[in-house]
This record gives sequence, structure tokens and C-alpha cells, in this order.
Amino acid sequence: MSGISNITKSNYKIAIIGLGYVGLPLLNLSTKYFNVVGYDKNPYRIDSLKKLKDYNKQIGISDLKKLNKKKIISSDINILKGCNIYIVTVPTPVNIRNQPDLKLVKNAFNTILKFLKKDDLIILESTVYPGATVEISKKIIEKNTNFILNKNFYLGYSPERINPGDKKNNIKNVTKVISASNKKSLNIVKNFYSTFIKNLHVAESIEIAESSKIIENIQRDVNIALINELTFLFKKMNIPMKQILEASRTKWNFLDFRPGLVGGHCIGIDPYYLAYQAKRIGAKSDLILAGRNINNLMINKVSSDIIKSIKKTKLSINAKILFLGLTFKENCPDFRNSKNIILFQSLLKKYKHIHAHDPYLNNSLKIEYKENILKKLTDLKQYDFIILAVKHNQYKTLYKKISDIPVYDMKYFFKNSSFYL
Ligand SMILES: NC(=O)c1ccc[n+]([C@@H]2O[C@H](COP(=O)([O-])OP(=O)(O)OC[C@H]3O[C@@H](n4cnc5c(N)ncnc54)[C@H](O)[C@@H]3O)[C@@H](O)[C@H]2O)c1
Repeated sequence: MSGISNITKSNYKIAIIGLGYVGLPLLNLSTKYFNVVGYDKNPYRIDSLKKLKDYNKQIGISDLKKLNKKKIISSDINILKGCNIYIVTVPTPVNIRNQPDLKLVKNAFNTILKFLKKDDLIILESTVYPGATVEISKKIIEKNTNFILNKNFYLGYSPERINPGDKKNNIKNVTKVISASNKKSLNIVKNFYSTFIKNLHVAESIEIAESSKIIENIQRDVNIALINELTFLFKKMNIPMKQILEASRTKWNFLDFRPGLVGGHCIGIDPYYLAYQAKRIGAKSDLILAGRNINNLMINKVSSDIIKSIKKTKLSINAKILFLGLTFKENCPDFRNSKNIILFQSLLKKYKHIHAHDPYLNNSLKIEYKENILKKLTDLKQYDFIILAVKHNQYKTLYKKISDIPVYDMKYFFKNSSFYL
């Protein structure tokens, strides 16, 4: 990095490590401007990308063809030879005790270690608790080499904000927070991202950038928890939450959160990262964890409420029920940590004739729920009751076809559903 802050195709080779929801679009975009390679340790992922299949449905065939033509994706670590910038975009889940599981990030840093040269830069994009980027680099890089941060190697942290399934807010037009371990490396980080991202926000330190990402998701989680608690409180009073929110939303500064299940790998996970760090330093995170607990208990509450609603329509356990949507959120094929699947499983124990539909269903789910899967949205009149769990665009026009059937609408999606969460 010796003083060069202008990255060109000839003076820098950039690696993206982890080609999932975050890494692949970044590779696809940055390769248009820079000399970039993509490494994923999962050969199955690389194989399917080579067969022009992105199972996350983020990159189209023509872009995949271009990536393959350039021969820049591989599950062989040797593709990282000669790189000067390593961007890490691997998952950061929690373990069964809801503690941060940084195994994959550490694994990626250990891979980088094999190739790291003097003056190289590592940028982490994965969501972590404040302090983790420097902590991991010290544990892995400084401990195993004679390199010292900001003397022989540099760090950057830039959290990702992509929202798969969202066509409006995309990687190019969403403001990206960037940070680095010193001025020199910040110039490189800025130079890289500003080439293809319109707006950057420079955070004053790596810890500020790490914290900014984590509180974005904690703010959502806690607010959803509040609305979830209020929803069941008002259900007891027989006051419909949907209408309450419609009225409250007319105030200019009312925050527009809806009740629901919090699944996926960000909102329901990241609060545990900060709570873990809070515990380590002897600070409190009571509200953060209370929000998590409320949201975790929602599956049971929603399940009981659905069962109550089915009973209200005088249907028995022999009722024919259709469950719409199994992904953790709308319009994307992401089933990771989907609470909708767990909700469906719990209803499956009670009702014999329940089918699930999802436009993004993958083979393993099709195999797991074989006879309980509806492949095409035809013959809907056979159902006595419908549960709308995910507001996939494909369901928008459904309402006319099912207007005679009672619907439990978890998403306030249809205008005149019989029951709302
Ligand atoms: N998906 C999102 O919408 C989103 C949004 C913002 C932030 N994030 C954060 O970004 C990070 C990545 O999430 P994602 O959704 O892209 O994950 P993902 O599961 O879609 O992809 C991660 C990829 O990394 C690969 N991988 C794992 N360990 C590796 C290693 N050591 N070396 C090489 N490859 C490795 C996996 O095989 C996988 O293909 C997480 O910290 C997540 O919280 C995700």
C-alpha cells in the first residue's frame, strides 16, 4: 500500500472472501472497475455459480457468464495469491447459547494469513460487535506473524446494508458506512467503494462503524418487540391493532413498525452480539434482551391466535388449511432462521390437512414436507382457511380468488381479511 491511494486494475488485486448474499453482488459490481477475485470455501456454491445458478437469485445469467469468462471465482484458496486487499463477507451467526459464533470470520482471517504480505489491507463487511475486527486481527494476524497493525498491515470495516428482494434500496444507491485503521488505509477504502457506490459515510473509527451497523438492527428488533407486545395486549382488549396503527401512523413522528415474527440472520441475531459484548465489559443490555425474548415468544402466541381464529370460524382439526409463505421475509429465497417454517411445523402437528406454498421453495423443503406442499396456486377453493405469513409480490392478486375463504393475515396485506395479527 506504500503511499498509493489510487487503486487501479494494475496496481491492486482485490479478493472477496465469501460469495453469498453480500459477497457475490459486491464481486459482480466491483469487477467492472477493478482486478477482483472471489473465493468461497463451499465448492457446491462455486459449482452452481459456474453452472450459472445463483440460488440466492441476486445475479442474473448474463452477469454470471461474465464472471465465469473472467475465471475469477473459485473454491481453491490459491486464487488469493498476489492479492493486496481482502474483503471478508462471511456469515456471523450465534451458537445454541445465543453467543456470537465468529468461527467463520476467524477461518477467513486464517486463510488470508497464508497470503498476507507487508502493507496489505483486510476489510471486514460481516456484522460483528464493536471491537471485534481489531480483536480478531490481533489474535490471528499479529499473533502468528511479526506484522503489527498500521505498521505492516491495515484494517477496514464497512458494514453491508443490502436488503435482498428490495429493488429500490440496492448496493449502488444506499449510503455505505466506511472506516479504516488509519488515514492511509481509509484513503484506499474510500477510493475502492466510491468508484461504484454513490454515497459514503466515513465513520471516525472502525468501532464506530461496527456499532452503527449493530444498532440499526437492534433498533428494529426492539421496536418490533414493542409493537408485538402491544398487539397481544390489545387483542385481550378486543381492540384491533391494524386499525390502531393506521390511526397512530397519521402522526408525523410515529414510527411505522408492524407486529410479526423476527427471523433471518440479521435482526434476530445482531442484538445478541452487542449483549455479549456488554456482558464482557460489565454493562447492561436489559432492553435489548427483553426485545429478543418478546420476539422469540411470538411463534407460540401467533400459533395460539391462529388456532383460536380457526375455532371461531367453526372449523375443526380436519379443516383444509393453506399456509402462504415460508421464507423469513418477502420476495427473496432466504429460508435461514425462518420463524414461518417453525410456525408452519407447529400447525402441522395440530391440523392434518395443511399445505404450505412459497414461490421460492427449494428442493430440501419440498422433500421434507412432500405431501404438505402446494406447488402451484391452483384449486384454492378446496381450502377452508388461509394463513398469509409472507407478503410475496406473487400473492398480491390472490385476494380476489380467495375472497370467500377466511384469511388470517399476519402482514396486513389484504384489505378485508377475516383475522389480522
Ligand atoms: N444477507 C443480508 O441481507 C445481509 C445484509 C447485511 C449484512 N449481512 C451480514 O453479512 C455477512 C454475510 O452474510 P450473507 O448473508 O452474505 O451470508 P451467506 O451465507 O449468504 O454467504 C456467506 C458465504 O461465505 C462462505 N464462507 C463461509 N465461511 C467462509 C470462509 N472462511 N472462507 C470463504 N468463504 C466462506 C459461505 O460458503 C457462503 O457462500 C453476515 O455477517 C451478515 O450478518 C447480511
